[in-house]
Amino acid sequence: MRIVLLGWPLGHSVSPAMHNAAFAEMGLGGWTYEAVPVSPGFFDDKVQELLDAGVSGLQVTVPHKEAVLKHCTAQSAEVESLGAANTLVLVDGQVRAHNTDLPGFVRAWDVAFGQGSLRSARAVVVGAGGAARAVVAALSLGGADQLVLLNRSVERAQALLDDTASLRLASGLQATAEELSDVSFATAVASADAVIQTTSVGMSPHNRALPVHWPTSIPEGLRVLDVIYNPRPTRFLEEAAAKGARTCDGLPMLVEQGALAFELWTGLPAPRGVMTEAASAALAG
Ligand code: ATR
Repeated sequence: MRIVLLGWPLGHSVSPAMHNAAFAEMGLGGWTYEAVPVSPGFFDDKVQELLDAGVSGLQVTVPHKEAVLKHCTAQSAEVESLGAANTLVLVDGQVRAHNTDLPGFVRAWDVAFGQGSLRSARAVVVGAGGAARAVVAALSLGGADQLVLLNRSVERAQALLDDTASLRLASGLQATAEELSDVSFATAVASADAVIQTTSVGMSPHNRALPVHWPTSIPEGLRVLDVIYNPRPTRFLEEAAAKGARTCDGLPMLVEQGALAFELWTGLPAPRGVMTEAASAALAG
């Protein structure tokens, strides 16, 4: 049973270490997970080649999460609402698209901050790229009340809100988009109880970079999640913790999206502890 991850660039992905450790732990000796870097121009041919070769599953990451949909014969509700997939399951000639980023975020949040704690949240999301898209959809489905979406390019933030309008309307999530600045961030944080950092700013090797500065004081009990898992924690998260926030780095979300994909492919419960250890070791190594 062969699972392949496609992305561009892939760099040093920790997913092969995480999934191969999970297969070994569950006694799935015949299963393998490998990462194959493929640029957008070669993506469709590569997917077709892998489907013809009889792979059992695929994972796709940046920038292929939308382009992969044309190869799928069925889509989960999450994929339909987001227009993006990260996990494909091949069974009985069907190619089923799933998005485990969205429930991966919700589960990581629930484990860090308490089951159902997105309900009625007043959230600030920094960034408006692919990761922000999954987070905004998760906030809608998780029952958050309010969202301030802050991005360097306000047009891109507005486009994200437009694209998720029906989802947000159905769940009653009130949202506004603004340009990211220290002032807009401070104003939004003052009446928030959740902050989610989704940009790549602060990712290794630019560990000292900050997407925005924290205001001098923050609301008591503020919960802050940064989707970056290298470094752990980011400077953004470190400074939030120093001001008294409860924090969660990006590793639990990475492990959860992987664990949910593992369960879709194998039908077995994912060994999350083993996956976390393998991912941490791969990051450290
Ligand atoms: P991903 O799919 O991982 O979210 P992406 O689609 O490239 O990646 O999105 C990157 C996000 O990081 C965007 O919100 C981007 O802001 P713009 O839309 O204005 O480009 C944000 N970002 C990247 N570099 C940034 C920087 N130096 N300062 C602030 N935001 C930055």
